[in-house]
Amino acid sequence: MTFDTIIKGGTIVTAADAFMADIGIRNGRIAAIGEALEGAGTVIDATGRLVMPGGIDSHVHIAQPGAPEVVMAEDFTSGTIAAAFGGNTTVMPFCLQQRGQSLREALKAYHAEAEGRCHVDVSFHLILTDPTPGVLGQELPALVEEGYTSLKVFMTYDDMVLKDRELLEVMAAARRTGAFVMVHAEGYDTIRFLADALEAEGKTAPYYHGPSRPVAVEREATHRAISFAEITDVPIMIVHVSNRQAMEEIERARRRGLNIYGETCPQYLVLTEEDMDGAAMEGAKFVCSPPPRTTEDQAACWEGLQHGIFSVFSSDHCPYRFAEDGKLTAKAHDGFRWVPNGIPGIETRLPILFSEGVKKGRISLNQFVALTATNHAKTYGLYPKKGTIAVGADADIVLWDPEMTRTIDQADLHHGCDYTPYQGLEVTGWPVMTMLRGRVVTDGETLVNEAPGGEYLARERSPLVEGRQAL
Ligand code: URP
Ligand code: ZN
Ligand code: ZN
Ligand code: ZN
Repeated sequence: MTFDTIIKGGTIVTAADAFMADIGIRNGRIAAIGEALEGAGTVIDATGRLVMPGGIDSHVHIAQPGAPEVVMAEDFTSGTIAAAFGGNTTVMPFCLQQRGQSLREALKAYHAEAEGRCHVDVSFHLILTDPTPGVLGQELPALVEEGYTSLKVFMTYDDMVLKDRELLEVMAAARRTGAFVMVHAEGYDTIRFLADALEAEGKTAPYYHGPSRPVAVEREATHRAISFAEITDVPIMIVHVSNRQAMEEIERARRRGLNIYGETCPQYLVLTEEDMDGAAMEGAKFVCSPPPRTTEDQAACWEGLQHGIFSVFSSDHCPYRFAEDGKLTAKAHDGFRWVPNGIPGIETRLPILFSEGVKKGRISLNQFVALTATNHAKTYGLYPKKGTIAVGADADIVLWDPEMTRTIDQADLHHGCDYTPYQGLEVTGWPVMTMLRGRVVTDGETLVNEAPGGEYLARERSPLVEGRQAL
């Protein structure tokens, strides 16, 4: 046999092209792309399907430790199964350094959690919360060499916030080591100031999460992060951008010649601040940071995706159950500041962008692939092994039914969360088969391989840190 598997009769879509051809897979990689390929043990009929690179979700939180009474609704088993059913073949969770911990200790714990449980490939970004001279001077350079080539810093949250000086030191260390920096741009003091004022007025319902971190909070921090990146001469990714003014900060920086990149997420396209205004504590289901904004900001996020201000579209999957150990701890009833920030979305990211974006004529099929797979691989040092359909690439492939209509329903999802913020959303287009390195992981509603086949991926340095125009 020439091939292990042939995918026949589909329309292959990459970030650049769309054409009809067969794919021949051998030893987990794409060995041939051509007309009328023959000679395989298994032939998969892809007639009427789009054949695309598996989704890469470069911003997810899985099994991340938080406040003592709160448990994240996802371990690596449920998280990666949900990812596969959602058409993804690689996810990139964060490895949180808790204060006082070394990066290696943090990584050891995450690897132990992930080992043997992953149904898609996995690679970790670091979250630096304790950037001591030892961490920045010794640990980080060694870890970048080992393939942990990206890190996230936070400008807010009590247990993660860095001071301005620390942000600068981390960026300077990234400059020296070639790590790629992701920034959570919301200001700690501005949020505390507003949250205290709201609480003093008795405004404690989940809805006030939004007013406690308005657009100005995000715009100010975005501007500050960009200034720090300019001062230290590093490219950065502003993650989870929610609104026009923050997007315009990125746009202006790019016009000044800075290498500033942006990410947005499904919640900023289809949710609004009104969603946090539900009866009783229902609004907590939509509490994430930055918060969903207005329909005008949704329109801005679409423009950002259309014009390349946002090069990656990620889920920011950060699931807490709508239950006592999740969103609704005893403390959460006292006020919005105790509601864990984050919502699930690992399984619904691709259908939402396809339906709202491609089907509604806002983005092209090629943009869809770039935003959901190719640009993630390019940004984070996985390309061209991941993120495209090309000879030599891993056979990470999703077969997509562009006409299937579904109503998003918690009852159908595989994630560990007990609700979806997208309940009832009608979408057209759904992943019908996900293949990881040539092996079928999900086929329709079936998890084909109970045995987890996902691997850990060490990554190259981002080409973006070398100033190469990879996107
Ligand atoms: O609300 C969110 N997004 N929680 C997840 C953590 C983060 O900031 O990305
Ligand atoms: Zn964040
Ligand atoms: Zn977030
Ligand atoms: Zn996040």
